[in-house]
Amino acid sequence: MTDLSNIRKKAAAVLQKNLYEVTLNGKLYRRTVPTKEFYVHQWNWDSATHAMGLIHIDEDRAYDELLALVSGQWPNGLIAQITFNPKETKYFPGPQFWGTEKFANGEIITSGITQPPLLAISANYVYQNSKKPEKAEKFLKKILPAIVKYHDYLKKYRDPEDSGMLTVVHPWESGLDNSPRFDAPLANIPLETIPDEVKVLVNQFRSDDKIGDAKHRPGMDDYYRYMYLVHLFKSWDWDYTKIIQQSPFAVKDILFNSLWYKANESLAQLLTSAGNFELVEKYANWAIQTQNALKNLWDEKVQIYTDLDVSLGKHEPIRENTIANFTTLWANVPDDKQVKLLLKKLADPKQFWPAYPVPTTALNSPKFELIRYWRGPTWPITNIFVIEGLANYISDTLAEKLYNELIAKTLNMIAQNGFFEYFDPTKGSARPGKDLDASLGFGTFSWTAAISLYLSHKLGTIKTPVNF
Ligand code: DGY
Repeated sequence: MTDLSNIRKKAAAVLQKNLYEVTLNGKLYRRTVPTKEFYVHQWNWDSATHAMGLIHIDEDRAYDELLALVSGQWPNGLIAQITFNPKETKYFPGPQFWGTEKFANGEIITSGITQPPLLAISANYVYQNSKKPEKAEKFLKKILPAIVKYHDYLKKYRDPEDSGMLTVVHPWESGLDNSPRFDAPLANIPLETIPDEVKVLVNQFRSDDKIGDAKHRPGMDDYYRYMYLVHLFKSWDWDYTKIIQQSPFAVKDILFNSLWYKANESLAQLLTSAGNFELVEKYANWAIQTQNALKNLWDEKVQIYTDLDVSLGKHEPIRENTIANFTTLWANVPDDKQVKLLLKKLADPKQFWPAYPVPTTALNSPKFELIRYWRGPTWPITNIFVIEGLANYISDTLAEKLYNELIAKTLNMIAQNGFFEYFDPTKGSARPGKDLDASLGFGTFSWTAAISLYLSHKLGTIKTPVNF
């Protein structure tokens, strides 16, 4: 039996340890870094997740986290993947590699790409779960204009054709950097076309595989391509009209867009809460448009949802059996028949239901890798998307069972292994000498801690209690 109060205490300690206070433009910002072991800046969707845990232990910090996240918003509305803490050098690529200074808000320098749009979802969750109405109203007033501007940026620059589906132009934007879903689109960038100066830079400065375990991290070829894209966009002066047309990597990502659906629904709710009724319909309509576009990505032959490679005029479905499929549940996309198929797939121990579900790639996929980053390991963050998706279909007996079990199993996985970045889905049993040790990636990880708080709060709302 997992001792919830113990996890909560330890989770709070991790979030405290990763608090980073920094004064910029004469103002004190309180940010939570993912882990001081390596990720020493503020990450976009990490911070959105941190706030969803912090709201249950320290409301002021939850507000501060999100307000710090929007503090580096660009004039065009972009809220970047990373907001940098000056003087920190552990992480590569740091601020000097992006060429984004002219878009900075004074001393607040960021990277030039974004991450999955969890911000509005988090802000709405924080607002709804606040117990201090006056402070929550103040927070809402401050954050809302930044979220509106961010959504308008995403729609204008990432969906110029008004398809309902946003385009990501870098695997880092997807959040699932080296997922097998990006193998084919990344192959659009032959290694031999990457300038030597980019390769030299990666060879000289790449640090994740030295500070962390190289076997858990993306391969070198991936890194050359990641940094080539940064180099290219920088040479185009971060002109997003050009980037969207000419980037050799451009994907309509089903996970990113399932979140985009939910983010617009959340923004419509935030606007309603703020009494700003005239904008509600606009974002509610964007949500519906995305939901319809996602419905069209069901591939009956392989019975999964497919991402689309849309680089340089292409329109090619990407057929990989990964966790991204299940995020469509959160966007209420699948019809009754598709829900049954997805639940069956999710509950299958040979695909997605091993000792610690849900692996990020199906166990029986030829692309599955047990310990390498997003190519197989189980991540608490993607589990919460699946959990929230299952909640939409809770009247189905199997969905309810999986929902209850996945909350319990995710908490258990964290309690048994510690606050790691990701976990071996087989509980370590497939690694010689590692039986019962599932920990992977960096430790003392903030979003793992935040998710423990979020899920232990959710456990209190479960109708049918589960043993775990
Ligand atoms: C990394 O450096 O591993 C991150 O995923 C980039 O956002």
